[in-house]
Amino acid sequence: MNRQTAIQKAKTLLAQMTTEEKVAQMVQVPYTYVGREEALRWAKLGAGSFLHVLGEDAQEIQEAALNTRLHIPVIFGIDAIHGHGLNPHATIFPSQLATACSWNPETARIMGEVTAHEVSADGLHWTFSPVLCLARDPRWGRVDETFGEDPMLAGEMAAAIVKGYQGDDLADPDHILACAKHYLGYGEATGARDAYDTECTERKVREVFLPPFKKAVEAGCATIMTAYGSIDGLPLTIHRRILHDILRDELGFTGFVVTDWDNARSLVTRQFVKETIEDAAVAAATAGNDMIMTSVEFYDAMLAALKNGTADLSIVDEAVLHILTIKYEMELFEHPRKQATHTIGCPEHLQAALQAARESITLVKNDGMLPLSETVKTIAVIGPNADDIRAQYGDWTYFSHPMPDPDHIPERPYVTLKEGMESLGAAHGVRILYAEGCNILGTRENISEAVQVARQADAILLCVGDRIEQIGEGKDRANLALSGAQDALFEALSALGLPICTVLLSSKPLCITKEAASNAVIIAFNGGMFGGQAIAEAVFGDLNPSGHLPISFPRHSGQVPVYYSQLPGWHDGAYCDLPSTPLYAFGEGLSFTTFAFSGLTFDPNTLSLTLKVSNTGSRSGIAVVQVYVRDLVSSILTPVKRLIGFTRVPLEVNQTETVQLSFSRSDFELINANCESVLEPGQFTIMAGPSSKDEDLLTCTFTLS
Ligand code: NOJ
Repeated sequence: MNRQTAIQKAKTLLAQMTTEEKVAQMVQVPYTYVGREEALRWAKLGAGSFLHVLGEDAQEIQEAALNTRLHIPVIFGIDAIHGHGLNPHATIFPSQLATACSWNPETARIMGEVTAHEVSADGLHWTFSPVLCLARDPRWGRVDETFGEDPMLAGEMAAAIVKGYQGDDLADPDHILACAKHYLGYGEATGARDAYDTECTERKVREVFLPPFKKAVEAGCATIMTAYGSIDGLPLTIHRRILHDILRDELGFTGFVVTDWDNARSLVTRQFVKETIEDAAVAAATAGNDMIMTSVEFYDAMLAALKNGTADLSIVDEAVLHILTIKYEMELFEHPRKQATHTIGCPEHLQAALQAARESITLVKNDGMLPLSETVKTIAVIGPNADDIRAQYGDWTYFSHPMPDPDHIPERPYVTLKEGMESLGAAHGVRILYAEGCNILGTRENISEAVQVARQADAILLCVGDRIEQIGEGKDRANLALSGAQDALFEALSALGLPICTVLLSSKPLCITKEAASNAVIIAFNGGMFGGQAIAEAVFGDLNPSGHLPISFPRHSGQVPVYYSQLPGWHDGAYCDLPSTPLYAFGEGLSFTTFAFSGLTFDPNTLSLTLKVSNTGSRSGIAVVQVYVRDLVSSILTPVKRLIGFTRVPLEVNQTETVQLSFSRSDFELINANCESVLEPGQFTIMAGPSSKDEDLLTCTFTLS
């Protein structure tokens, strides 16, 4: 239904609602916490939304809601983060971080669309995704949920996944609402301690954290989730400037805003900025939160505030209007149960997950060990994450959060690395041996067995990383070194003198400084159900890796943050005991072929760039062209480089393509000391190449007036 009609209908309905019915629309009830009976009671009261309820339970709630006086349907929200992961039969994609390694927005769009098909097939309407926080400090527990450290890359992936979730029409039965979260600055809490204060100015917020949300809003994202934390001491939950003035007046957002889990109550119990839940309820609604997740006390508190005059009904009316407008735009009144046409876990969806896993594989070192040569007849697959599907799935699947059961093994189909190696090994005539060596959490270790196994092989594939207990909310790490005996395992194996390929299967960058001495290093992150197969394909050369890192790797926990877009530093930004460079840089990623970049030109009149890329190696592959800019003299410090464009270029052997990219003046703007977006005339340097490393980049300097 078009927006204008939806607004009219919402206004008409609003005029018929009692105050109680209006306030109830603002409540989002957590099904798993309150239980079935209480959930049904809330449905009869007219609660606007429920979260974390699947299938028939959801339909029972919907029936109860439709039986109320005004028959207003409920909207069901779910954390379908990289696939409809809370459903045990769903297709599980790589994490957002792994997907970002593809530098391919179309892959994000497909992941969103397949997820929408599966969520809608479950009768649900809305996913709390994508995460648009930036992961500039890898100690944070939720790095895996992000598209990495860069605002531009995250913004492009965000726009694409939003389109994938929502399709062209909110009423489409096979698509769902997206929710850009966590608005705003949540990824950069002090010390990377989850949901702490973000010590940051509005200028910095606008420069770094706002751009991906802007892109999501421009892509039509229907909902936004308020972050848990605070910026410069003011909780986002009551930050009207950010939630209303910037979001609605500046970015033009027209959907509805939902708080994160228990944000309203936390104003009293965790952040201590309100004395009573009544004060908290009024403040949260006044600031621009339309829907209140989990803090169901909001209902009584808001009604009391309206009665005693501490709140104005216009605040409630505005919020309910936002919610009802979206419900009408979705044609939820006509189709309260999604009439979806797709099947959860169908072959087409599984194929999309496999393709996404393939595109996520990022090779950051290769001395020629990969692809395995024909002389390798036996390979030892070693390591704690080589045969652990839970590590491969990562967070937000039904055996992790919010239904934690780490011992629950997902249902097939899935392929661990060991299994992928075994099946491809059979096809290539290579024998596969396996030993765990040690576990991730440091409670089990059998390094001597692993060494015995490796002795019988011609090469070693070592799979290290983290696992579900070290990932997610409240699981921030002070120490980014590999846990348990993983480094000791590497040392024992490397003493054998055999070629070693290390695979990092983890939620985030870890300090694999020892393992960097391996002959080859693959960064796989959490590749989802087919991550193991994709890695194995790369090892055997059936897949030519094309992933590039969306995040920088520190050499040591004490070196963070090492994100590439640093401000210029007086002393080269280096510590006296470490090089100033990261272990692996943003944008880095190798292939089994080689690419040459040449002929960079930039026309300051048309703001267009041209560049030649050639495949100079011996197999077809995909080059990723990255374009960075530096403002040479500016009124405030600006980053030494900042990504403003990228494109993937598939190339056959000996093929050369001329790449042309166009920019707009806003790509060269900065946020000045008055928080204004301005282009300051002067010289700029454009840099283009296959990574953010200086030595990989061609440069060209020009003047903009
Ligand atoms: C809290 C998390 O911060 C958020 O990302 C999630 O969507 C909600 N809980 C609902 O599970």
